[in-house]
Amino acid sequence: MVYKLNNGKEIPSIGFGTFRLKEEVEDVVINAIEVGYKMIDTASSYLNEEYVGNAIKKANVDRKDLFITGKLWNDSRDFEKIKEACKETLKKLNVDYLDLYLVHWPASPVLYPNWKEINANVWKALEYLYEEGLVKSIGVSNFKKSQLEELMKVAKIKPMVNQIEFHIGFMQEETLKYCQENDILVEAWSPCGGGKLLKKEIIKEMAEKYNVSPAKLCLRWCVEHCVIPITKSTNIDRMKDNFNLYDFKISKEDMDILDSQPFIGGYGFDSETITIFN
Ligand code: A2P
Repeated sequence: MVYKLNNGKEIPSIGFGTFRLKEEVEDVVINAIEVGYKMIDTASSYLNEEYVGNAIKKANVDRKDLFITGKLWNDSRDFEKIKEACKETLKKLNVDYLDLYLVHWPASPVLYPNWKEINANVWKALEYLYEEGLVKSIGVSNFKKSQLEELMKVAKIKPMVNQIEFHIGFMQEETLKYCQENDILVEAWSPCGGGKLLKKEIIKEMAEKYNVSPAKLCLRWCVEHCVIPITKSTNIDRMKDNFNLYDFKISKEDMDILDSQPFIGGYGFDSETITIFN
C-alpha cells in the first residue's frame, strides 16, 4: 500500500525507524528489508547513517525499490552548511539521492526571536536540494500548526511531509488537521509511545478484543487517521507482526475511545516551547 505525496511521488504506507540504534542497526535494517519494509527512516543526529548505509548495500534489494528518509540536524541552519550536511548524509548512506529529506526540528521561538526567518532560510536550502535532484521530496518534522503556517507564507514548494510525535494519547489534532487540509502527509514517530503504550490496560484490553498485539493496535490507529507509522523493533517476529496492518479495522466506537485518551505515555514534546534540541 502506498500514498501519494503532493508532488505526485509515491511513499510506502509504513516506515521502519532507526532511532537509538547504533552498530546493531545494520542487521536490524537488513532484517526489516527482508520482512518487506521499503521505507527506512534515519537522521544525522542518530549517528547511525553509516550502518544504515551498510545495510542498504548488503540487503538484497535495488535502491530504486527502497524509500530512504534522512533528516537535517539543527546545527546546520545556513545555506552552505545545509548543502554540506545533505552531501555528508548521502555519502554515509551510500546513496546518490534521498527519497525524502526532513528538517528535523523547527527553531524554537523560546530560544530564537528570529525563528521565522531561521525556518524560512532552512526551507530555502531544502528547496534548492530538491531542485538539484539530490532529494526527491522534502518536508519537515516536529513542526506545529503555527510554525507550518509561517513557513507556508514563504515556501515556493510546500512541504510534502510533516513527521511528528503521534500516538494514542498524543494526537496533536490541530497540527494533524492543518496538515491534512493542506495536503501535507503526516508521519508518526513513536507510534507506540516509545513502547510505553503497549503496557497500558486500555490498549491491552482492546488489542485482545481484536486478537492483535498492542503494537499492532497502536499502528492501525495511525492508519485509521491516514498517518504513516514509523515503527521500530529489533526483533524479526515483531517486525513481521507490525508490517501487515490491513487485516483488521478498528470500529468507529473504539476509535472514539482511543482518540479521547489523555496522555498515557510517550514524550509529549512541544516544539513551541522546547529548548533541549537547539
Ligand atoms: P523491541 O525492539 O524489543 O521490539 P515506538 O515505535 O513507539 O518508538 O516503540 C518502539 C518500542 O516498541 C521498542 O522498544 C520495541 O521493542 C517495541 N515494540 C515494537 N513493536 C512491538 C511489538 N509488536 N510487540 C512488542 N513490542 C514492540
